[in-house]
Amino acid sequence: MIISSANDYRKAAKRRVPPFMFHYADGGSYAEHTLQRNVSDLSDIALRQRVLKDMSNVNTEIELFGEKLSMPVALAPVGALGMYARRGEVQAAQAAEKKGVPFTLSTVSICPIEEVAPAIKRPLWFQLYVLKDRGFMKNALERAKAAGCSTLVFTVDMPTPGARYRDMHSGMSGPYKEIRRVLQSMIHPFWAWDVGIHGKPHTLGNISKYVGKEIGLDDYIGWLTENFDPSISWKDLEWIREFWDGPMVIKGILDPEDAKDAVRFGADGIVVSNHGGRQLDGVLSSARALPAIADAVKGDIKILADSGIRNGLDVVRMIALGADACMLGRSFVYALGAEGGAGVENMLDIFKKEMRVAMTLTSNEKISNISRDALVDLSKL
Ligand SMILES: Cc1cc2nc3c(=O)[nH]c(=O)nc-3n(C[C@H](O)[C@H](O)[C@H](O)COP(=O)(O)O)c2cc1C
Repeated sequence: MIISSANDYRKAAKRRVPPFMFHYADGGSYAEHTLQRNVSDLSDIALRQRVLKDMSNVNTEIELFGEKLSMPVALAPVGALGMYARRGEVQAAQAAEKKGVPFTLSTVSICPIEEVAPAIKRPLWFQLYVLKDRGFMKNALERAKAAGCSTLVFTVDMPTPGARYRDMHSGMSGPYKEIRRVLQSMIHPFWAWDVGIHGKPHTLGNISKYVGKEIGLDDYIGWLTENFDPSISWKDLEWIREFWDGPMVIKGILDPEDAKDAVRFGADGIVVSNHGGRQLDGVLSSARALPAIADAVKGDIKILADSGIRNGLDVVRMIALGADACMLGRSFVYALGAEGGAGVENMLDIFKKEMRVAMTLTSNEKISNISRDALVDLSKL
């Protein structure tokens, strides 16, 4: 199959990865309206073409939390990556390192921190959920510190999990899920060979190590549902601050008032995110939420944005709306599922080329030059 974009990787992943895992990544919560709007609201934003300004030195590099990034992009935390390619977290982290961007390891990764961190030289970013078991959180923070993780991404938009109806239909959950998964694997032989046989153990590495027994895919949703903590408040974050002295980023902010609270709390960054449309369906897309948040806190805190970014033009759009950098979710998951780490590397190259074209044709040589000036205000036309 010819691959020229992240959307091509989606089609390729759909062929290679069995439906229960493909739809786990591809789907969102409830009727998936927010999932769709994340993508369509972004692509509806018109870039403002400007010409004849000598764009011979376009440069996509930035500095973020004391680290050099080849472009304003980090790979978002995504659970169970090791079910998309053999030891998927290691492959994705190595691809990110080769392309000069951070990789964020999810709490619910297949490969534990101790397997991923030594596989690269660049420090990992580590994502933590708020869980009822504070012992687990403390243990995870200590292990992340010991493994040299640089930045903590603290996800706050999962006090309770949103229902993903697609998972019931795909075999991720629902009746006869085990037999359906076996049947699906049999007709996806590349995946069965690469992940099913050679990608073991398929357990949640970070959690299994802590609880001392294997938490597999089947226990995954159950464990998460039992352990998410609806009582979470800013107080819990203070507790975490005591265990973490590096940069701390709060992921899952969608409202300017919460963004101001994050500044008051003393966070180093926020991720404007609706979890890729996987939590509360009906909330604003990130692209629509971002401008008001940037108006409220830009300059006081680093603003990252995700949800719906499918190409380098979308990255430029998010930066123009007020983000300092972006996180990529499904775009790299599809590439990983389709071609492993090589796919992620290629996807990052594609993004960079797309960004460079968008920067050249909006006449912005540096990331710090990109502002709302790079967009056409359609309301005034
Ligand atoms: C399959 C999948 C698993 C995810 N797992 C996590 C996770 O473990 N922790 C987290 O903070 N966010 C998780 N997310 C959300 C992503 O970090 C990110 O916010 C989202 O994917 C961005 O939207 P996009 O996929 O449209 O780019 C997950 C997303 C997907 C698609």
